[in-house]
This record gives sequence, C-alpha cells and structure tokens, in this order.
Amino acid sequence: PTNPTIEAILADLTLEEKAGQLNLINFEGELGETHYQMIRDGKVGSLLKSNGAAQNLKLQKIAVEQSRAGVPILFQEDVIHGYKTIAPIPLAEAASWDIPAIQQSAAIAAREASAGGIQLTYAPMVDMSRDPRWGRIIEAAGEDPYLASLVAAARVKGFQESGEPGQNILATVKHFAGYGASLAGRDYNIQDLSERELREVHLPPFKAAVDADVAAVMVAYTAHDGVPLTANQYMVQGVLQGDLGFNGLIMTDWATIYNLERAGVSANAEDATITAINNSIHMDMAAKKYVELLPQLVRDGKVDERVVDDAVRQVLMLKYKAGLLQDPYGRLNEATEKAELLSAANLAATKEMALKSMVLLKNDQQTLPISDKVQRIAVIGPFANAQKDLMGWWPGLGEAKDVVSIMAGLEAEFGDSVELTYAQGVTIDRFNKAGAELIPEAVKAAEQADMVIMVLGEKEWMSGEGGGTASLHLPGLQEELLQAVAKTNKPIATVIVSGRPYVLTDVAKHSDALLQAWMPGTTGGTAVAEILSGKFNPQAKLPVTFPQHQGQVPIFYSYKKTSHPFVAGITEDRYTTTYRDAPHEPLYPFGFGLSYTNYSYSDIELSSATMTMDGSITASVDVTNTGDVAGREIVQLYLHDKVASVVQPVKLLKDFTILDLSPGETKRAEFVISKDKLAFVGIDYQPTIEAGEFELFIGASSDDVKSTEFTLVE
Ligand code: IFM
Repeated sequence: PTNPTIEAILADLTLEEKAGQLNLINFEGELGETHYQMIRDGKVGSLLKSNGAAQNLKLQKIAVEQSRAGVPILFQEDVIHGYKTIAPIPLAEAASWDIPAIQQSAAIAAREASAGGIQLTYAPMVDMSRDPRWGRIIEAAGEDPYLASLVAAARVKGFQESGEPGQNILATVKHFAGYGASLAGRDYNIQDLSERELREVHLPPFKAAVDADVAAVMVAYTAHDGVPLTANQYMVQGVLQGDLGFNGLIMTDWATIYNLERAGVSANAEDATITAINNSIHMDMAAKKYVELLPQLVRDGKVDERVVDDAVRQVLMLKYKAGLLQDPYGRLNEATEKAELLSAANLAATKEMALKSMVLLKNDQQTLPISDKVQRIAVIGPFANAQKDLMGWWPGLGEAKDVVSIMAGLEAEFGDSVELTYAQGVTIDRFNKAGAELIPEAVKAAEQADMVIMVLGEKEWMSGEGGGTASLHLPGLQEELLQAVAKTNKPIATVIVSGRPYVLTDVAKHSDALLQAWMPGTTGGTAVAEILSGKFNPQAKLPVTFPQHQGQVPIFYSYKKTSHPFVAGITEDRYTTTYRDAPHEPLYPFGFGLSYTNYSYSDIELSSATMTMDGSITASVDVTNTGDVAGREIVQLYLHDKVASVVQPVKLLKDFTILDLSPGETKRAEFVISKDKLAFVGIDYQPTIEAGEFELFIGASSDDVKSTEFTLVE
C-alpha cells in the first residue's frame, strides 16, 4: 500500500534530489560550510557517524529549513553493543543464552543512541562463523543457527521496540549473507558456500530478523558463488526478497558499489551503479555513485526512473518509521541525552549482562571463588589494567576513561581485606614477542602472593573488522609468561579478555581456574571481580566451540555424519575422520560452562516413544543442584535424525531452558517436541520432515548429555 505522505514528498523531488535521498555518507573531519551546502543542495539523504543531539539538531535544521524539499536526514551509526554504555561484545552476550537480557541490552543501546541523535543502527550482525581466525566472529552469536536466530530476533526487537516512540531506533540486519564464511578467516575474502550450507547455517538468523520485522538489510562485501552481494541478483532478489520475503530497505556496505569495479565484475562506475540499483540496492553507503551518476543515467535512458523512485520510497519509509517525516527534531534534545547516556540504570543492567556472559571453563580444587583465607593476590598480565580493550571492537561512543578495568574492579570488590599487587608481565606490541624483561618481576609478585590472577587476552583492534589472525594462540609472550608464573606453584586463576575463541590448551594446563571474560564492556572489571569473589555464580555457556589445536578449525559441534565416523580418542584405526597428530575433540565444546555448584541430571522421560506427524511428545529431565550455592543452569535439548535423505548433523540444538536452583533443589526441565523441530533442509532445499527414528539428547553441554530415542510415524 502506498503511503500518502511519502508519495507527496516523492512527487515533489527533482531527479537530483531523489539521488540525494539514496546517498548515505559520513563527513570526514571538522564539519564546515561545504558540508552544510551539500545538505542545502539536497545531496545528503542520510549521514553516518554524526553524533550528538546538538550537532544533529543543527544539521537537521539545515536539511529541513534550508534545503528546497526540506526532507530530514536519517542519522545512522554502528551501535553494535552499546552506544555510550558499552555492553559485552555480541558473542559474549550470546553466551548468556538469556534472550530477554539480550533484548534489553539492545534496548538500552537504542535509548542511548536515540538520545544521541541516531535513528538507525547497523545491527544486528548475524553472520554465522565457525572460524575464529575471522575477526568479526566477535560480532555475532556464535556457531549455532537456532541460538543465533533467537538472538537475532531479540536484538531486532530490542532496538526497534525499546521504549516510547522516539526511543526506538531502526535495525539493520547484516551482512547478507555468508560473510562469516570468508575463506581462511581473512576478512573480505570470497565465500565458497554450498546452497545447503547457506540455507542450513547462514540464512536462519536472517530469516529470524526479517520475521521480527527488521527495517533494513545491509549486503556483505563478499562475493557469493562468484558474484559480489551488491550485484548478486540470486541472493538479493531471489533469496532475500523472494524466499525470506523481505520488503524493506537494502543498503550497501561501505562503498560496495565502487567495489564492483575493484572485484572486476563492473567495467566502470556507470556499470556498477546500474547493476546495483537494478538489484534492489536502495541506499549507497560511502561510494557516492548514486548521487553523482544516477540522474544522468536516468536522462540517458540507462536506468528506469521508476527503479529510482522505488529506492527513494524505501528511504522515505525508513524516515517515516523513524518518525522524522512527522517530527524531524524528535528527541534531539541535550537534556534527554545527558540523562540517558551512562545512566546508573544502564550501567547496572550492563554489569548484569557481563556477569551472565562470562564462562567458567575450568575450576580445579575450587580455586574459585577466591577463599577468605587468601590475603595477598598478585594480579598479573597486560590486560589487568586495560580499559579500551574491555570495550572491544565497535565501542560506539564509549570512552576508555569510563571503563572499570579488572584491577579497579578487584580493588573495589576486595577493598582492604586483600593486598593486591600488580605486574604487567609482558608487553603487547602488535603480534611481536615483546616485554620478556618484565617476566621476572611478575614471577616475583607471584612468589610473594597466596594466589595469582592472570589477565591475558588480545587488544581490541586484534579482532573485529579486518581483525583476522592466522594464529589462535594468545598474542606475544603471554603463554610464556603464564608458564613462568606457573613454576611458582601458586594457585592461578586466569581471566581471558578476547573477542574470539583462542586455543587455550596450554593456558588451561597451567591454570587452576579459567574464566572466559570476553570483552565485557564498560562495567566489565566489576563483573570479573564479582565472579572471582563469588558474589555472582557463573552460569554462561559457550556459544562457540573452543578448539584444542588451531588446525582443527573450522570446528563446531554439529558436524555431519561421515562414512568413516570418528571414534573417541586418537585411534590406531587410521580410516576414521580424525587427525593423526591431534585429537578430534575440542578443548571446550559448544554449550559448555561450569558453575560454583554442580548439577545432576536424571535419565530422560518421554511422554511417548512414538510421535505422529500432527502430534507432539514431551521430553523431561529432573535437574538437581547438588552443591552448596544457588545457581542457574542452562539445560539444552539436541536431536539427531538417524536416517534421512540428506546427511544429518550428529547433534543439533533444538531448544533450551534456564532453571534457577537453590542448593539441594530439583526442578524438571520439560521440552515439547513437535514436527517443526524435526524439519531439515531437504534435497530440494525445502523444509522436509521424514518419518523414522530420532535420537534425543538433554544435557549440560553438547558433549555432556543423557540420551534416548523416539520414532516419528506417518
Ligand atoms: O556497518 C559497518 C559494516 O559492518 C562494515 N563496514 C562499515 C559499515 C559502516 O561503518
């Protein structure tokens, strides 16, 4: 249906002004008269990286009051995991498996961003990746399509339904599609995905975002099946608009129209522009090709003006959805901005999220929580005092000075009750092995302490966009530092600050306890301290597999069955799908995470061992907290279709539930299995359900499950 407000604006626009509406640019450096004139000339439809209520109010007034057509600007930003209050990186949030909390985190980001003059974010990023070398693994929800789809929908709702009108921002799901499969973990590389892998693994979170009514889609830099996404009609018009039914705005990634020339699929800028606009790419980020070339291409008859009009309608619809066509100044108000950014409520919620996202990977001899008997702690490592690195890539407008470092968090948590000594240990100088001369001082600090907290990890720039790494070992001399400290035989709790799974095999060997803290955001240091002290009992579970050896990459729990199945351990039978020099198993499997208490699982009870196509069965287990402290357990349900027309994964997550359990308490986890949980991508790429036997697993991780079987009958 047409929107009369939009149609009236469209009818009034000149061809140049239409092209201007499709133009999304950022103003580098200081704002000046040249920029203001571009706005007056109607050449700036949208701006990215222009922030602040005062600045955006000023620019908006120029657009509305001084340009001929008076169409407001849509202000856009990378609000990925927070705007000013920085939440844990998205991969960390996924480790909470707490979908309402993830939605709330996006809502906080939206309220802050809208107060800062932003109406649209380039998030959620939902690219599936099973290769931790790829730096952007930090930005999505891990390796599993089911969990990632729930997270994608929650983030879209969080941004778009965060509060009162004016507090919401529009979401852009990105990068469509398959970017996470960038070959060899190198960013921007081509992807070589089968149709099956695309549909089984990469499309589900996009579908979830579209079903959650996401406003916009950004296409990926990559080439899919030989054709860059910006030019790929099969993917954009066939899959996105056709199969997924998306009918909103589609934008490029940074200068991807220009990239068509660089990739050698367009001979010149005109060809690239024609290709993109005819492929339903409605908004041009940073290439300035639409604004510069479209009017003449239309006049020359090379582009149909109706195609341009459709793109302009999409842009105006976003402006309408953002409320700008109704009230261009909306929430652009410095008092609101001041009250919202870094508010006590936002900081408190972000700390909760950080607590829920940190995964306890090892805890021998109850090293954690830190016992009352410990009087002197040596805090060692190049990330103990880090602030910027705790925010990770895409820190929004977050400032390092507002971040609680781990050292500061420990000081606040332990006060005078414990003597804390800090030693940097080594230097992080790019990827060089630097700072060996600092190791002896760190060892000395350890010798004089009752226990050691090692804080190791990576710099914020080492992951994120363009953050590919060939090595999955902690950068620099950090492993050597840990080994030297371990020789003191003091109990060691190691905290890892990273945006990706590292190969922690040796780190785990030399640590008594190991906490994956990710890049935990503004309040991260407080959250780490509260976990180490035992104020908070860890509950998170890995959303991504941690390899034991970097040659195992890509490694993920839901691998497909093969003709020569893997047999546990390194076997003398060479004709199985494993390595001769390394194990097949990961170091820590998907879904794994320890707690300060223990849980026992009963055998699975099925309401019936057969299920009909139209019926459902219930699978239940009793979970008991067998320890001394209250805890929260994430109970996971996996299925395996034993015989199907397409090779199936050995196990696939289908549901989970979160139980709060006091010491000694037992609760029942119940899962309803209906036929939608049994569907797979069939031989014809359509959802398919086949009768037969299924294995059903319930447990604490993908690798620690009880199992049973049932039969699906016609
Ligand atoms: O949103 C990002 C995208 O993820 C990568 N290229 C730049 C865009 C805008 O900053």
